[in-house]
Amino acid sequence: MKAALVTSFAEPPRYADVPEPVPVAGAGDVLVEVLASGLHPRIRSQADGSHYTSGDALPLVPGLDGVGRTPDGRLAYFVLGDTPLGAMAEKTLVDPRRMIPLPDDADPVLIAAAMNPAMSSWVAFRRRVTFEPGMSVLILGATGSAGQLAVQIARHLGARDIVAAGRGQERLDALRPLGATATIDLAAAPDAVAAEISAKAAEVDVVIDYLWGEPAQNAIMPLLLGRADRSRLVEWVQIGSVAGADIALGSAALRQANIRFLGSGQGSNSAAGIVAELPSLVAELVAGTFTIDADGVPLAEVTRVWQEPATRRVVLLP
Ligand SMILES: NC(=O)c1ccc[n+]([C@@H]2O[C@H](COP(=O)([O-])OP(=O)(O)OC[C@H]3O[C@@H](n4cnc5c(N)ncnc54)[C@H](OP(=O)(O)O)[C@@H]3O)[C@@H](O)[C@H]2O)c1
Repeated sequence: MKAALVTSFAEPPRYADVPEPVPVAGAGDVLVEVLASGLHPRIRSQADGSHYTSGDALPLVPGLDGVGRTPDGRLAYFVLGDTPLGAMAEKTLVDPRRMIPLPDDADPVLIAAAMNPAMSSWVAFRRRVTFEPGMSVLILGATGSAGQLAVQIARHLGARDIVAAGRGQERLDALRPLGATATIDLAAAPDAVAAEISAKAAEVDVVIDYLWGEPAQNAIMPLLLGRADRSRLVEWVQIGSVAGADIALGSAALRQANIRFLGSGQGSNSAAGIVAELPSLVAELVAGTFTIDADGVPLAEVTRVWQEPATRRVVLLP
């Protein structure tokens, strides 16, 4: 069968022939015909060996999730465990417990594009913090796929103020119809950004942070010092680190205000916990509650799209 194949962590995958996977007797996995699989940042880090769950086994077929057809013809969204036999192939092996049925008219490109970025905040809001309607949120890194969905998910869950922070005023303005009630352009001068954080985001209850690194580091003190009541809890949920793996944090931040740092991802959530949240998210996507900018691209073009800057979520179609 055809698949995307990684033979070196220093090179993009190429379109190649690989043996069709064979279900192991008694293991329960089923052979699924893949229709669509999203090229998420997590997949890029799987394919270059840099993800925190990565091993060093090569070759590997990348791809963590997708939409496929089961041997009995049913459409399903599936998410794989850590495996060298990934989803960017004509067929892959799926544990039926990690499969969510889809109606026949579900759009494979939409589901494959949106599930990974959407589940980042869906799981965080529903499992990692006690989020209630009327609470307010700051989304750091709101212009990416996950950030755009976090804005929509926060609105869907009843957030009052949704402060979207990211680079580029035009892209931030596009988040207003999706639910953002205020925006902060992180490309502005650091003093101006700090003033904006204090003015617009100081009273939030939850921060959904896709950035970490300098933008997060520079936002923490202005946010805390701007709070009317510093003893009121703010929960900072670390989800992605596109702006840097580390920050420097002065100890005073933790004494001066009631801030709790936590993360949401593989490990901080159990695999079973993540999977348990997926049917409700699938139902909202199928119902058209959330949107995402996505492009379906033939799997044969994997090497080309891998090397292009991603402005919209790419979905590979075997
Ligand atoms: N833990 C989880 O469960 C989970 C699940 C899904 C995703 N994630 C992680 O969440 C992160 C975001 O995912 P995504 O799907 O939204 O990725 P994406 O679509 O590639 O978006 C990344 C966004 O980050 C912005 N960005 C990069 N550097 C920045 C900086 N220094 N300051 C401000 N903005 C910056 C980019 O904007 P520019 O165009 O300005 O560069 C882009 O809009 C990734 O790290 C991903 O691995 C985690």
